[in-house]
Amino acid sequence: MSGPNTDYDPVEVTPLKPEEVDSARDAALAAIAGATTLEELKQVRSEHAGDRSPLALANREIGALPPQARKEAGQRVGQARGAVNQALSTRQAELEAEHEARILVEEAVDVTLPTDRIPAGARHPLTTGAELIADIFVAMGWEVAEGPVIESEWLNFDALNLGPDHPARTMQDTFWTEPADAHVVLRTHTSPVQARTMLTRTPPIYVVCPGRVFRTDEYDATHSPMFHQVEGLAIDEGISMAHLKGTLDHFAAQMFGDGITTRFRPSYFPFTEPSAEVDLVCFVCRGVDPESCRTCRGEGWIEWGGCGIVNPRVLRACGVDSERYSGFAFGMGIDRTLMFRHGLEDLRTLFEGDVRFTTAFGSEL
Ligand code: DAH
Repeated sequence: MSGPNTDYDPVEVTPLKPEEVDSARDAALAAIAGATTLEELKQVRSEHAGDRSPLALANREIGALPPQARKEAGQRVGQARGAVNQALSTRQAELEAEHEARILVEEAVDVTLPTDRIPAGARHPLTTGAELIADIFVAMGWEVAEGPVIESEWLNFDALNLGPDHPARTMQDTFWTEPADAHVVLRTHTSPVQARTMLTRTPPIYVVCPGRVFRTDEYDATHSPMFHQVEGLAIDEGISMAHLKGTLDHFAAQMFGDGITTRFRPSYFPFTEPSAEVDLVCFVCRGVDPESCRTCRGEGWIEWGGCGIVNPRVLRACGVDSERYSGFAFGMGIDRTLMFRHGLEDLRTLFEGDVRFTTAFGSEL
């Protein structure tokens, strides 16, 4: 601030002339009114009310005036600055309100518009189906076991009492890997997981083993060179055919609904003795009117899988004391089971990865 200066002639101080103060004020008010954005108003504020604005400079000159002139000049400049500041805050408020109103309009989101989001898809019915089967057994206290799909010939065949001359070993059914003398196959069933489990654990053993298996089959509506099985194995003291029947009846009812039970037909598997084929009550006609049923074709029953009492030779080959323990085992196709459950007519729909199919069946469970 400059102090009183007696040499100073106020008449020469242009900024303090009343008409200069008025015109600085009017210019400021016009600029404020003309500002159409907050940015522009900021610029106007700096030019007309900032430290170097004409009115601020005029204000600084007041102290240099002789005392009698100071009051009048002070009032005039003060009023002009007050008017400018008032106009600035009014315009600021107006422009802020306009800005907000515009944002509300411009950035409005219509939450009812359809989105172009990529559909989430669904888990495959084979995945959810294998999980459902595992859940049914886990609820009974069983565990889930898994094994490799590339398996030793010994575990796939020998350990399971499938002798060297068994027809399943020929090139007809089995995919062999090279070199042949490595004796490694793509597993033809999930039964080697039984052998692996018995070799690595001590009874009691209660396991289900879902997984992929391979055979040199044609690819058509009911066959595929790759398909899925679930194997079950229970080893404990005093296990009998009655436990096997009760377990499979429970499995069938959980999978297909109350009243769908099983029946056993005598059969032969090298790894079980006695062995049986398991049939399900036809889940379409329920065995009530089989003559006109297209699903079971007059049978009232549908073939589901194989089962039996674990052959003591298999127990011994896998290090289980066959005097103390006995066990039952079963195996069935998961794909086939799901075809029944969902009324699928072509096995290939399960393997062809059409998302429309997966979405229809896969999100269930
Ligand atoms: N492994 C047999 C197959 O692939 C199915 C099977 C039958 C499994 C009887 C078993 C069983 O555990 O006891 O055809």
